[in-house]
Amino acid sequence: MSPIDPMSLSTPRPSPGVSGTSGNSTTSAAHTTWASVTGADPEHSRRYIARWEAIEGDGGDVVGEARLIDAMAQRGARILDAGAGTGRIAAHLSALGHRVSAVDIDPQLVDYARQRYTEGEESVGVPVDWNTGDLAEDSEVPAGPFDFIVSAGNVLAFIPNAAHRQALGVLASRLDEAGRLVVGFGLQRGRSLEEFTEDATAAGLKVSQMFAGWDLQPFTEASDFLVAVLVRTEGGEQ
Ligand SMILES: C[S@@+](CC[C@H](N)C(=O)[O-])C[C@H]1O[C@@H](n2cnc3c(N)ncnc32)[C@H](O)[C@@H]1O
Repeated sequence: MSPIDPMSLSTPRPSPGVSGTSGNSTTSAAHTTWASVTGADPEHSRRYIARWEAIEGDGGDVVGEARLIDAMAQRGARILDAGAGTGRIAAHLSALGHRVSAVDIDPQLVDYARQRYTEGEESVGVPVDWNTGDLAEDSEVPAGPFDFIVSAGNVLAFIPNAAHRQALGVLASRLDEAGRLVVGFGLQRGRSLEEFTEDATAAGLKVSQMFAGWDLQPFTEASDFLVAVLVRTEGGEQ
């Protein structure tokens, strides 16, 4: 059996220097953005890619989140991977025949994903539309509409607090009327459940289901990771 617990790939590990809490407390801990991480360490993205390659090389399951989205989606669904990172989720969904767009703020990761999965020999399925962009910038996120938006691996927790509501508003605007946004992030990473829910409501979204992980374990008061399925509401402040 692989020493890697498949679900640990989508389970948050507090980064060094990020204070953690247990349980979904109402107060948020220190907040780390991707810009602050990569700004302090220019080698971070390269090592991040290497880490995923090592997990994959060891036989780890790097597509668990994609399998869940695939199970929820109709065939050939329009899907946006929001904060796609190395492209592992977008590429798998595309290989399964979905029509996938991906956006990430880190150009090094987007280049890696495009090169590996679309231009390289691992290119399969409908080519992913790879984009470099900030989820909080309306003009930088693919237009959609999408049947599903997936945002795994703590992406939302890396977005600065001041831009979080804006980013959720942009994602809400990209959902088809019946579309669903599925997000996963650690609640000890700087944004509490209450803050998240408040921003989602203001952005015109409603949490329809909550789980403690991508394996759909029930969410409880002790959960420190949230996988939430959100749908559009009529309004929002955006
Ligand atoms: C821990 S990685 C997760 C990547 C991918 N979703 C996965 O699960 O493999 C967090 C990602 O969020 C992206 N990110 C952070 N802030 C962002 C923003 N404002 N807009 C778009 N992407 C962002 C980073 O560039 C990084 O790729």
